[in-house]
Amino acid sequence: MQKTATNFLPDQYESTQKLGINHNYLPEQFADMDAILAKVREVVVQGDFTLGRAVDRVEERYAALQGAKHAVGVNSGTDALRLALIACGIKQGDEVITTPYTFYATIGAIVTVGARPVFVDIGDDYNIDPSKIEAAITPKTKAILPVHWSGRPCLMDQIMAIAKKHNLKVVEDACHAVQATFDGKFTGTLGDVAGFSFHPLKNLNVWGDGGILVTNNAEIADKVRLIRNHGLIDRDHCAEFSFNSRLDTVQAVVADHLLNKLDNITATRIRNAHALDAGLAGVRGVKPPPRDPRIKEVFHLYCIEVERRDELQKFLISRGIDAKVHYPIPMHLQPAAKDWGYKVGDFPRAERLCGNVLSLPVHEFIRPDQTAEMAARIKEFYA
Ligand SMILES: Cc1ncc(COP(=O)(O)O)c(C=O)c1O
Repeated sequence: MQKTATNFLPDQYESTQKLGINHNYLPEQFADMDAILAKVREVVVQGDFTLGRAVDRVEERYAALQGAKHAVGVNSGTDALRLALIACGIKQGDEVITTPYTFYATIGAIVTVGARPVFVDIGDDYNIDPSKIEAAITPKTKAILPVHWSGRPCLMDQIMAIAKKHNLKVVEDACHAVQATFDGKFTGTLGDVAGFSFHPLKNLNVWGDGGILVTNNAEIADKVRLIRNHGLIDRDHCAEFSFNSRLDTVQAVVADHLLNKLDNITATRIRNAHALDAGLAGVRGVKPPPRDPRIKEVFHLYCIEVERRDELQKFLISRGIDAKVHYPIPMHLQPAAKDWGYKVGDFPRAERLCGNVLSLPVHEFIRPDQTAEMAARIKEFYA
């Protein structure tokens, strides 16, 4: 029988709290919460709870941050992708090419606009393999949805060339990839439009759910501004019946506060990842993805392929290191994908990665002694 979905999952929040080197850093991150609460107080006094001043501020700052013309705040990264697809004209019966190695929300966004995801295997960089995309294009294909997994941009030069040749839209899943660049260009300006998440464990996060969409295309931005807010042109006129997917003003206050810290957050994640790369170099049994000089990765996750993954994970947890698997089952083999006819073996690279991949904590509160400790314990395991 199918399990019922529940709200609070104590395990999700509490099970790893005893570990010394943890993925979860939220209590530390919001140690200065009084500064945010003071700004939330202003929202209460002003009463601009929906699409208030802080939303405007975050949209302006985020567009500037990503070097884009427009940013539109919405209620989650999932809705950023969903509304982006709708604004690109994707509808019932269309096909959208994407990766089987991602978080459920990427696929949920495609499915809930009525389209069908068509999977293409990944390359060595864990992202969609551009050399396999053209074979998956059919007359129904309308868009490509590349996912910049863990904050590493996809090979966007190749993806955009294919999109141009076949007249396809490109919606970037940049939920992991704020401030990441490919050939010096920021995510969100590489394709037609990109969705970003402000979920609590993302690089730029809020106190619940939130997201933002970035584009250089004024038509897409205008359409999303309309459909995130009931399709209203003004209080008394509705252009099309639509969603309520606004970014909360209170959450925008939190995002605005964290935008001041983002350069440091990103730089520290990169520093930690480079320290892990150096510490793990040459360790038999460990294979980080290739690092590409054209790409600035922002390390939402630090993912590596490892031998005897499940044993290593247990070993690291027993030594106080919160090693996690993001994620063990690719999208085409999920129960929710059963009607699409995929089977084991269809995407060998993604399937292998799901069996081998391990993520180590890399966030801004991880110290150099902790990256050294993680590398030392992994070496010990394989010695
Ligand atoms: C790759 C990816 N895409 C989309 C999302 C959806 O973001 P949100 O949780 O803000 O809806 C996530 C969130 O975890 C994600 O990891």
